[in-house]
Amino acid sequence: MDFASLAKIYKDGFLQFINFTWIEIVIYAIILVPTFYAMIKGAPFVPTQMTQVRRMLSIVPLKKGMKLYDLGSGDGRLVHEAAKHYNVDAVGYEFSPLVWLWSVILSYVWRSKAQLRFGNFWKQNLSDADVIVCYLLPNAMKQMKQRLMPQLKPGALIISHAFQIPDLKAYKSLPPDPDQRIGAVWVYKI
Ligand SMILES: C[S@@+](CC[C@H](N)C(=O)[O-])C[C@H]1O[C@@H](n2cnc3c(N)ncnc32)[C@H](O)[C@@H]1O
Repeated sequence: MDFASLAKIYKDGFLQFINFTWIEIVIYAIILVPTFYAMIKGAPFVPTQMTQVRRMLSIVPLKKGMKLYDLGSGDGRLVHEAAKHYNVDAVGYEFSPLVWLWSVILSYVWRSKAQLRFGNFWKQNLSDADVIVCYLLPNAMKQMKQRLMPQLKPGALIISHAFQIPDLKAYKSLPPDPDQRIGAVWVYKI
């Protein structure tokens, strides 16, 4: 069967039931492609419990003016909490358009100075980071060593929620707390 007949079968058979215009298809693709990329390559949107956010931020010595990045900032809770309570220069990168939009809306409620940027954190220059925070799947944690750590300055800290950087000794850690249903936290020092 040639390509033209196959395309006709699809058009007449399947696509006739999908009444999307090209504009709608483009809009859905712009929203869905980065969302699926972020879900598969990094982690799906699962917000960290606020108790855990506070625990993660209290485990390192945060000082006014320090640069903190949340890699995959979700609804922005972590960067807002860091900016409000520790006065750090907090920046979150989020690659899922809908989640990022939600975080921008919520920032009017939080009213902190944290910045919520739309973008893929793997493509950013994070060399000025004092602290990196993340809650990402094991596959992304595996890539931390090759893709992120070489660009960080000595003394920079990586705080990871729930998943460890494989084969790397943590400088500090917090155990899980089953009563509060919160996972472990690891801190790595460059
Ligand atoms: C498990 S959630 C954590 C959200 C937030 N950090 C928290 O702790 O509440 C992970 C987030 O990372 C985002 N993400 C995954 N890969 C990403 C990438 N390469 N660039 C930017 N965001 C990404 C996902 O869209 C998701 O919202």
